[in-house]
Amino acid sequence: MARILLGVSGGIAAYKALELVRLATKAGHSVRVVQTPAALEFVGAASFAALTGAPVLVGEHDRDPARGAFPDQRPPDHEPPSHLELVRNADVLVVAPATANTIAKLAHGLADNLLTSAALAATCPLLVAPAMNHHMWHNAATQANVELLRARGATVLEPGTGALATRDEWGAGRLTEPSDLLAAVELLVPSGSRPWDGLRVLVTAGGTREPIDAVRYVGNRSSGRMGLALAAEAAARGARVALVAANVALAGAPGVRRLDVETAAELLAACEREFADCDVLLMAAAVADFTPSQPAGGKLEKRGREGLTIALEPTVDVLARLAAGRAPGQTIVGFAAQHGAGALERGREKLLRKGLDAIVVNDVSREGIGFDALDNEVTIVSVDGERHVPRATKMEVARAIADAVDALRATRAPTSSAAP
Ligand code: CTP
Repeated sequence: MARILLGVSGGIAAYKALELVRLATKAGHSVRVVQTPAALEFVGAASFAALTGAPVLVGEHDRDPARGAFPDQRPPDHEPPSHLELVRNADVLVVAPATANTIAKLAHGLADNLLTSAALAATCPLLVAPAMNHHMWHNAATQANVELLRARGATVLEPGTGALATRDEWGAGRLTEPSDLLAAVELLVPSGSRPWDGLRVLVTAGGTREPIDAVRYVGNRSSGRMGLALAAEAAARGARVALVAANVALAGAPGVRRLDVETAAELLAACEREFADCDVLLMAAAVADFTPSQPAGGKLEKRGREGLTIALEPTVDVLARLAAGRAPGQTIVGFAAQHGAGALERGREKLLRKGLDAIVVNDVSREGIGFDALDNEVTIVSVDGERHVPRATKMEVARAIADAVDALRATRAPTSSAAP
């Protein structure tokens, strides 16, 4: 449980801060919110007050009925200055969304509203989640401000890339999704002991690309979101996480060691290097089953190639190979993206054939689920039984998978020194 002081500045993404508060309080954290006057134009203080169960402050001279205490604390018997008492009690200060203007103020030490004054007085970790138009994000002034904040030890998240608030605009500037934001917050919070402290987790994510020639490849539609969510969840539980990311364009969670690869062969090499030192393998990557036998060195020209045939040869099944050479106490979870009827049966067959502890089966024939989607709906199949996880965000599905790993490790009495 942490005390999170959330500063909300004035951008359209302020509505997502409500979801961050909902997730944080649901996870047991105690949250206070400070809004800038501009943020009130986007989301009313009453919404934050209802979700946190505490007063929301905006002006530097607002009286705080809670006297700077968090919902889990008793207010002091005197009235301390709000901005000082709030940061004194906070374990982490999160600014989300952080507009270009607020980032500039934070970088240059301005204290012209309650949020910026509190930030200047804060000695706890500072997490900044930018959200703005992509031209504003890429502007040299904003980039220099971000560098300045990072150089001083603040964690500034990379904004997401996608559709922006202005119609037809697309680019970098989207606020990090609330569940990812919470995971980033939890990494910064001094948490005492966490359930996966000492556990070493290897996660694979994304989809491999097998070269046809110098510019073309055989690939798949995996975005890497599920693997990134697993890596973030494992890190939030205290694990040391290595992420083998195959062509993942999205930013990963802070605190995760990331190894970027392109092809199935590179993924195999990276996994073989990392596997011996891991306690848990979560194999979420979509690895190509076949690769062109003879990729062309240059760019194939279409002239004179009507009816072109590309010969493919099988790749190594990385998961099966690692499972075959596993040490006692290692927990291995595979994934199966199945299409249509019989998905579970095929998943079960793979679990046994590849020698896994569990396999996460999802039916990718369903709309909005699985590949390149924000949500997932899976069944976690192990030799002991199966658990259906109804449609939820990939972060929530990652939590269910991590819980399943705990259950597996508890029943299999791990020989590793790490706590399950
Ligand atoms: N996998 C792997 N190496 C491969 C292919 C797959 O490690 N060359 C892993 C994937 O990371 C995933 C699991 O094996 O964890 C998926 O198994 P697979 O048999 O490839 O199933 P699908 O590709 O989902 O389905 P299909 O049976 O249709 O190939």
